[in-house]
Amino acid sequence: MQYLLKILSLCLSLSSSLPFSCAAGASQTFDKLASYSNPIISGFAPDPSCIRVEEQFFCVTSSFSAFPGIPVYTSRDLVQWKQIGNVLSRPEQLPTLSQVNQTTGGIWAATIRHHDNRFFVTTTLVFDGKPQLDPTRWDNMIFTNDDIFSNNGNGWSDPVHFSFEGYDTSLFWDDDVDGKVYVQGSHAWHVFPAIQSFEIDLNTGKNLSEIITLWTGTGGIAPEGPHIYKRSDAYYLMIAEGGTGLGHMETMARAENITGPYTPCPYNPVLTNANTTEYLQTVGHADLFNDTNGNWWAVALATRNGTVNFPMGRETVLVPVVWEEGQFPVFNGGKPGRVHVSMTGPLPLKQSPTAFPDTIDPLVGHPQNVTFPPNTTPPRQLVYYRFPDFSSFTVSPDGHPNALRIMGSAENITGDGFAGTSSFIMRRQDALEFSATSRLQFDPRVENEEAGMSLFIQRTQHFDLSVVRLPVNNAGNVTAERLGNFVILRTIDANSSSDGLHDTLSTPAVVGPLMEGPVDVLLKIQAVNASTYSFSYSDNQKDKNSDWVLVGTGAASEVSGGFTGTLVGMFATGNGRNSTTPAYFSDFEYFPVEGVY
Ligand SMILES: *[C@@H]1O[C@H](CO)[C@@H](O)[C@H](O)[C@H]1NC(C)=O
Ligand SMILES: *[C@@H]1O[C@H](CO)[C@@H](O)[C@H](O)[C@H]1NC(C)=O
Ligand SMILES: *[C@@H]1O[C@H](CO)[C@@H](O)[C@H](O)[C@H]1NC(C)=O
Ligand SMILES: *[C@@H]1O[C@H](CO)[C@@H](O)[C@H](O)[C@H]1NC(C)=O
Ligand SMILES: *[C@@H]1O[C@H](CO)[C@@H](O)[C@H](O)[C@H]1NC(C)=O
Ligand SMILES: *[C@@H]1O[C@H](CO)[C@@H](O)[C@H](O)[C@H]1NC(C)=O
Ligand SMILES: *[C@@H]1O[C@H](CO)[C@@H](O)[C@H](O)[C@H]1NC(C)=O
Ligand SMILES: *[C@@H]1O[C@H](CO)[C@@H](O)[C@H](O)[C@H]1NC(C)=O
Ligand SMILES: *[C@@H]1O[C@H](CO)[C@@H](O)[C@H](O)[C@H]1NC(C)=O
Ligand SMILES: *[C@@H]1O[C@H](CO)[C@@H](O)[C@H](O)[C@H]1NC(C)=O
Ligand SMILES: *[C@@H]1O[C@H](CO)[C@@H](O)[C@H](O)[C@H]1NC(C)=O
Ligand SMILES: *[C@@H]1O[C@H](CO)[C@@H](O)[C@H](O)[C@H]1NC(C)=O
Repeated sequence: MQYLLKILSLCLSLSSSLPFSCAAGASQTFDKLASYSNPIISGFAPDPSCIRVEEQFFCVTSSFSAFPGIPVYTSRDLVQWKQIGNVLSRPEQLPTLSQVNQTTGGIWAATIRHHDNRFFVTTTLVFDGKPQLDPTRWDNMIFTNDDIFSNNGNGWSDPVHFSFEGYDTSLFWDDDVDGKVYVQGSHAWHVFPAIQSFEIDLNTGKNLSEIITLWTGTGGIAPEGPHIYKRSDAYYLMIAEGGTGLGHMETMARAENITGPYTPCPYNPVLTNANTTEYLQTVGHADLFNDTNGNWWAVALATRNGTVNFPMGRETVLVPVVWEEGQFPVFNGGKPGRVHVSMTGPLPLKQSPTAFPDTIDPLVGHPQNVTFPPNTTPPRQLVYYRFPDFSSFTVSPDGHPNALRIMGSAENITGDGFAGTSSFIMRRQDALEFSATSRLQFDPRVENEEAGMSLFIQRTQHFDLSVVRLPVNNAGNVTAERLGNFVILRTIDANSSSDGLHDTLSTPAVVGPLMEGPVDVLLKIQAVNASTYSFSYSDNQKDKNSDWVLVGTGAASEVSGGFTGTLVGMFATGNGRNSTTPAYFSDFEYFPVEGVY
């Protein structure tokens, strides 16, 4: 190991301007230069935090109002990632998630760490509608887990809450000095933008020291997302600044003592795509880790800027890093480092199939085929919006094996959720182009009962492709004497990032043909290219390749932007009344098109 490290540091010190040129030849333990594509965790994967434990990498990302929340991803090669669990999988862990009523609220930036064989995740539940100085705006907490694969990936503890008027909390153990554990966090930045720190008792959440300010950054707005790393010579503090938009950047400072004073890196920002025309923008909110070969890596969030801004929300990118002893790290060979779609770096060797736990979970960006077999629960990639009424979702109910029965909620998916939960279950869009289909069997008897598929970014921005029972006249037109079933496409676009109760919602419903009697259709939502979604149905269940009727198309810009990312999946609602008629969904299939950026 010593020998290897010597070779490594010699190699790196010779090559600071060409960081990887000698890695391949230096030693057998180095891997060949390899190409990969960003993002590595695509679609609704903001604020990444990653660690290595032995030969395996683990990441967590922000989940806002999605439940289960705080997805945990794993990889051994840094390129293929699989979601293996969710930190937040039981409503009892955090009942107040149900009170979040802003799309920008909910679970913000988690940090994952591993210490003494235990995993730790610290995060903040943010009630974004409350003032910055309202202490109840921020609920900071720490989850632990001694066996990350246990209990089907859901074996995380109830949280220990701790008091901190801010967000983006991280943990650092000062093992070389005295083993004390410190929280770092971003103080409510409208008020006093600063990175703060204090010593914590992990068992009780009590602070064991005064809260002190470590650094206020280089002057960008919103200094946040702090992490501390110790190298032999110094404590390195890395933070994000500039806000999570186009001015986003990563900056660093270091100190001899953990409490400071912190001296800024001479070439801040160390990582940013601001003021470039890179396809990947808003790069920042990074975390650092190394692999078993001694190579360092960063993950960060980024958004795509194609024909539509942020079509899939904020996603996770990977950046090779050279970090010599005594120096600040260098990201992708640049000062500042830049992030591209096509990257090269000394990736760990591709692992055997045993690299992943033997679960049926799809890799990120790979197809998923959900068949709802008896005696199973919906796969962990599917999320609800806050907490569902679990009794509204039944896998393989009597008489309907291999189907998901959804009872429509009174609240529809545009509602704020305070009249009750909505019957909503979806997965992340993790490829720019995809096709998602599901079979729907539905025999609604009451006006406005509705079930279908939706493409959803927030409650004020979604497309619904559904079957709904509406009044109809003898010519089959909507609005008359009797009731009939129609396929509709509804566009909800409040054209606003705010989702207060007073948004004006536009709901133009494009109405397909009248369908008499019980409905048995295939529904299909497709991202045909980066700017357009299409919505189709077919009543030919025998052949999924034929007889599709296009109901309409929608502009991706109507479901882009925001903090989160796009979801696609299923829902049912009575639009104001609890449905009496169940909707049965089966064969929910999601096919991403690989390699499209
Ligand atoms: C939404 O949250 C804000 C602050 O978090 C609160 O003032 C408001 O009453 C909430 N709205 C509802 C309907 O509960
Ligand atoms: C914990 O933090 C509070 C607020 O800063 C402070 O008043 C208190 O003294 C701290 N506790 C300890 C043990 O330092
Ligand atoms: C670091 O802390 C030690 C012990 O508290 C102190 O003697 C030393 O002066 C501090 N160094 C700096 C640079 O503040
Ligand atoms: C981008 O350019 C603006 C305007 O010149 C400047 O204020 C800002 O600091 C730059 N941002 C970065 C991260 O370089
Ligand atoms: C994003 O893309 C659009 C369209 O290609 C372009 O006009 C705009 O300048 C880009 N923005 C950035 C920050 O690169
Ligand atoms: C990797 O990082 C850990 C701490 O994060 C450190 O203890 C270890 O020495 C590093 N390994 C190499 C090879 O740099
Ligand atoms: C999905 O599963 C169903 C049921 O096993 C099967 O009929 C279908 O062919 C599968 N689709 C794909 C794409 O594997
Ligand atoms: C959906 O819910 C919203 C908010 O409660 C309501 O304004 C709207 O009318 C409902 N949509 C339908 C089609 O009933
Ligand atoms: C409504 O029915 C009339 C025939 O009575 C037909 O001409 C018209 O196109 C229909 N309108 C719609 C919107 O389907
Ligand atoms: C949305 O708002 C923007 C900015 O106010 C405006 O330019 C745009 O036309 C609006 N779009 C729609 C569909 O109303
Ligand atoms: C995307 O697809 C739509 C529908 O086929 C088409 O009208 C549009 O021109 C396409 N846009 C791009 C950028 O290819
Ligand atoms: C719908 O059902 C839920 C749960 O049974 C109940 O709490 C709620 O009041 C009902 N809503 C309406 C509008 O009847």
